[in-house]
Amino acid sequence: MVLLQAGLPENAKITEVFQDKPLGLGHAIWCAREAVGDEPFAVILPDDMVLHGTGCLSQMVKQYEKLGGNLVAIEAVPHDQTQRYGVLEPGAETGTLVAIKGLVEKPAPADAPSNLAIIGRYILDPQVMEDLSAFNKGAGGEIQITDTLANLIGKQPLHGYKFQGQRYDCGNRLGFLAANLAFALSQGDTGRQGDLGEKLRSVLGDIMKT
Ligand code: G1P
Repeated sequence: MVLLQAGLPENAKITEVFQDKPLGLGHAIWCAREAVGDEPFAVILPDDMVLHGTGCLSQMVKQYEKLGGNLVAIEAVPHDQTQRYGVLEPGAETGTLVAIKGLVEKPAPADAPSNLAIIGRYILDPQVMEDLSAFNKGAGGEIQITDTLANLIGKQPLHGYKFQGQRYDCGNRLGFLAANLAFALSQGDTGRQGDLGEKLRSVLGDIMKT
């Protein structure tokens, strides 16, 4: 909470909501329905970190203002890793935006409609809550936001946004370590942590020599 507050604008408010059972991402989102109310909202899965001068969600907000509906961050992943992600059936592509014709949660590579995967950033319409409240179970026996978004195709616009920046998957040890290094090494550029990046580069250089 202290860390979160350190980076928040003055008028921002933090509300905690607990998901009392591990019933899936869709259920976790549904648990926040009262905090969300009747406005579009963002979902950030913190095990996906994106390093870029403009944050992934800021990039998405710009696109969302033109599109409305539901918007998800997407990235091409290796074909043999589709079973780790929500994967889209792509429609028309305009620059960095892809209209989504269909979505499948964690398909085996042989069943995947493409290798374009959802990364953990969403801007969602509050209407998703209604579909989520049906508590339909999907992949892994969990309530999946991917299935809800698929159900809303045709009723609301749904787009994927190919974000700028490097994504780190902190859900595995190597990705977590890489993210720590990459973010720390970038600190000299942003000035937020003084010359931390420069110092770390020198320390890493010494470690690599041993
Ligand atoms: C969740 C979503 C999945 C998405 C992924 C991104 O899966 O269900 O659609 O592609 O996040 O990281 P999880 O990583 O929680 O299994």
